[in-house]
Amino acid sequence: MAVTDRPAQRPRLPLIAGNWKMNLDHLQAVAFVQKLHWTLKDAKHEDGSVEVAVFPPYTDLRTVQTLLDADKIPFGLGAQDLSAQDSGAYTGEISGAFLSKLQCRYVIIGHSERRQYHAETDEVVAAKTQAALRHGLVPVICVGETAEDLEKFGASAVPVGQLDVALKDLKADAEIVVAYEPVWAIGSGQAATPEQAQDVCAKLRHVVAERLGQEAAERTRILYGGSVKSGNIASFMREPDVDGALVGGASLVVDEFAAIIRYQKHVGV
Ligand code: PGA
Repeated sequence: MAVTDRPAQRPRLPLIAGNWKMNLDHLQAVAFVQKLHWTLKDAKHEDGSVEVAVFPPYTDLRTVQTLLDADKIPFGLGAQDLSAQDSGAYTGEISGAFLSKLQCRYVIIGHSERRQYHAETDEVVAAKTQAALRHGLVPVICVGETAEDLEKFGASAVPVGQLDVALKDLKADAEIVVAYEPVWAIGSGQAATPEQAQDVCAKLRHVVAERLGQEAAERTRILYGGSVKSGNIASFMREPDVDGALVGGASLVVDEFAAIIRYQKHVGV
């Protein structure tokens, strides 16, 4: 992977993750993934320079997995949630065991929409993080403050506290991804400033160091999420503690998501 225009000091492979939320059925998912792949190929995107992952709804996962496999498309696959339980009488729930059978590598945990609409507490997020790791999945642990929290406690206190609970009982070699998503920035068109994202991501890295050790802190990728678009991705990626983005709305628009993935080219970061 010879990427000469990248600063040599970037120690972690950037991850651009598309959280589709409750959008695109399995047929639309096929069309979308194929088009995204062709768009990146046409642009001569260098696959090894950035990791791309998509997070479709559960009902699309098998179809997308089959497509990625058949066409050798180098995107990671992830689910948007999982059960804290492994199996049993939990109507409507999805086990991490099922997700890993579908070759999911990732699973989003504790997205603010789960915390808000499904009353997921920090303890639930911690239990789901454990469940993901039990099944060989990489949890993408989402943390972030609401507008009210921001006013009361500043930007970092709430996400730092949330991450601290999520990492409580993890082993030092656990592979995780952390996503800092200020709730007020999600879907609002009003992203955090790169400085704020950097400040909170650095504090979150410190939590990883305290809980899992320095080596884990150095290899763990910390993403920023909340109104990321092609026009602002580069400013986030210039920050040393921001290792990628969790993208919602803009991940549903092929050209926009492709431009976010190709941020290294259009800005020379
Ligand atoms: P957004 O969503 O990019 O639409 O703001 C981000 C997310 O919820 O992960």
